[in-house]
Amino acid sequence: MTDGKIFNLRMEGNVGIVTFDMVSDVMNTWTEEAFASFHEVLEIMEKDETIKGVIFISGKPDNFFAGANLKMIEEMNEEREIIKTIDLFHDSFRRLTKLKYPTLAAINGHCLGGGLEFALACTARIAKESKTTVIGLPECNVGLFPGGGGTQRLPRLIGYPAIELILQGKMLPAAKAHEAGIVDQLVPAAGDLLEESQSFMQEIISGTAELKRPEQDFSQVDAAAEQARQGALKATKGRELPAHMLAIRSIQEGLKVPLDDALEIEKKNFVEVVLSHEAKGSINTFFIKSMTDKPKSMMTGGFVPKPLKKAAVLGFGTMGRGIAIEILRNMQIPVIIKDIPEALEPGKAFLRKTFDGMAEKKRLKVPVDDLMNLITTTSEYTDEFKEVDIVVEAVFEDIKVKEQVYGKLSEVVKDDCVISSNTSSLPITTMSQYVKNPERFGGTHFFSPVWLMQLVEIIRGEKTNQDTIDNLLNFAALIRKRPVVCRDNPGFVVNALLFPYFLNSMKYIEEGNTIEKVDRAMTGFGMPVGPIRLNDEVGIDVTYKVFVGMGIEQKTMKNMVEDGRLGLKKSEKGWFLKDGSVDPDALLLIDKKEPKERTEEEIQMELLTEMVKVGKDLLDRKVVDDPRMIDVGMVWGVGFPPDKGGPMKWSDLIGLSEKLFGKSFY
Ligand code: NAI
Repeated sequence: MTDGKIFNLRMEGNVGIVTFDMVSDVMNTWTEEAFASFHEVLEIMEKDETIKGVIFISGKPDNFFAGANLKMIEEMNEEREIIKTIDLFHDSFRRLTKLKYPTLAAINGHCLGGGLEFALACTARIAKESKTTVIGLPECNVGLFPGGGGTQRLPRLIGYPAIELILQGKMLPAAKAHEAGIVDQLVPAAGDLLEESQSFMQEIISGTAELKRPEQDFSQVDAAAEQARQGALKATKGRELPAHMLAIRSIQEGLKVPLDDALEIEKKNFVEVVLSHEAKGSINTFFIKSMTDKPKSMMTGGFVPKPLKKAAVLGFGTMGRGIAIEILRNMQIPVIIKDIPEALEPGKAFLRKTFDGMAEKKRLKVPVDDLMNLITTTSEYTDEFKEVDIVVEAVFEDIKVKEQVYGKLSEVVKDDCVISSNTSSLPITTMSQYVKNPERFGGTHFFSPVWLMQLVEIIRGEKTNQDTIDNLLNFAALIRKRPVVCRDNPGFVVNALLFPYFLNSMKYIEEGNTIEKVDRAMTGFGMPVGPIRLNDEVGIDVTYKVFVGMGIEQKTMKNMVEDGRLGLKKSEKGWFLKDGSVDPDALLLIDKKEPKERTEEEIQMELLTEMVKVGKDLLDRKVVDDPRMIDVGMVWGVGFPPDKGGPMKWSDLIGLSEKLFGKSFY
């Protein structure tokens, strides 16, 4: 054994066993160091005349190879650099395919991206059916495509189904990968992967192994590529994402020529994709997702969270219901829910119906009855509140109601109980005066519907202590939410960025631009809905009230609210009709101003620039400490296109940050 190296070759009889392990990392990834070590064993393998076959197996129990290092790819901005890296992949794997004897990838755990491309360059693949074994080419999910031979070797092995696997970035468990023809043999979870690999290798050497290598007919590749292109465009509502478009082009052109030429085509397209803003944006989204996937990692190091054994929710309306659902289904702890007597039964009926729906879709770990039995509903602050560890308040958005609620609540809960408000617009610091222990009071601002929206803003009032923030982060982890931590601020983070967005969209229609055009400007950018549709969905009265609170008189919205047009969902009347078209009657309520025709591009740029300016202001005022918090909020709270990486990252990528503020946010 060559100790200290990533790749190590040893002989067992006439078969070489190459183990690989990047000891200081959780995952094996293709770095320059990994390639250098790989080349050392390759050289020995190329020269040794006695070797009859080689097995590649990871030294890690649950990771074969996780692919290329994304950080490394994100930082690549030079064509030359990218070509050099891709040549490294292509040349290394080509050398592997040119060996005079068979090679076998013995897969356990993640075998993804450049990891699968490595395995595809081997003669055959064997995989262990463990829970952690996933096999696929997920590059398109991060704005790239498989550029280490994946777009060429996978279709040549399994035919047209490879296109879908690549475009959708699918990751298959071992058995599915076997069914698809990627893996030749399976090893049961309890089996010994190395032993099974050795006997499989002997079969391969002797020619008795059953390796299905059907002749692929690619005469219909143009039609298949066109179908794939249409599917990809449908998924993005017509936006051409470089990852998908260039993957399709690589496959379509590459399958018509010999492999070596095809790899050159793949390389040329890969350079283009790596340099695209969409790749950099998507990789940023991947990183900010990883950062917030585990809220506990955002807690102060060494913090031991307070055990949460019992919770209370105040208010059994839209939000209280949603919050109770998330606590019950994720934590399975007793929850007391308080509201007026008339609200209790409808609230419970709603929870049961929602749980039934989740159970039908197999999204519940426990029977519905067990969850319903954990609920106590009440209209009084009973003694039971004494046992509660956390209270989430979601009563009417009225400071007087909140004051009264907190006063009474403080009399019954124990001193170390954590209390949070789901307010969308009232200052946490103001409300903290009404609780007995303001340091244990903070904000948890959820988004509706709570069980579908991943985001929660955790708000630090002036008096909120760090333990409370850490406990709320722990709570977010337990109910599986993605947190943004911020300081008290009108609209916190997400709504603060949305205020000018809504306000300007009204300005455009008042100037005579059509609602369709204004919305299209943003759906064209990749937002799931345009600003006017979003306003309609959030509730026109909700935004209107916020503007009033900020001293802004928005006449068009006032007219809408006074006409009972609170939004299609809320009052069956708003900007749109049920068929999706604009309601002509709503147009009569627009407070017309001097006409000013704007292009979609102008509207898009102005709306986004205003968003970025608010983001900059939040950073300057230390409402957030990190631009990533703003981007997390906008991607998961509003659906900002993941391929743009969030408004702050997007602004950096297109050079707007530099132009406006002289520097980048990241
Ligand atoms: P809602 O009107 O649907 O529900 C409020 C509930 O509070 C009602 O059932 C009411 O009977 C109850 N309530 C009133 N006084 C009470 C008291 N003294 N004790 C216990 N219950 C009392 O309102 P919604 O939409 O659920 O909003 C609740 C809070 O969540 C508000 O602060 C709102 O700003 C905030 N919020 C709302 C969002 C939304 O999309 N609706 C989004 C994020 C936050």
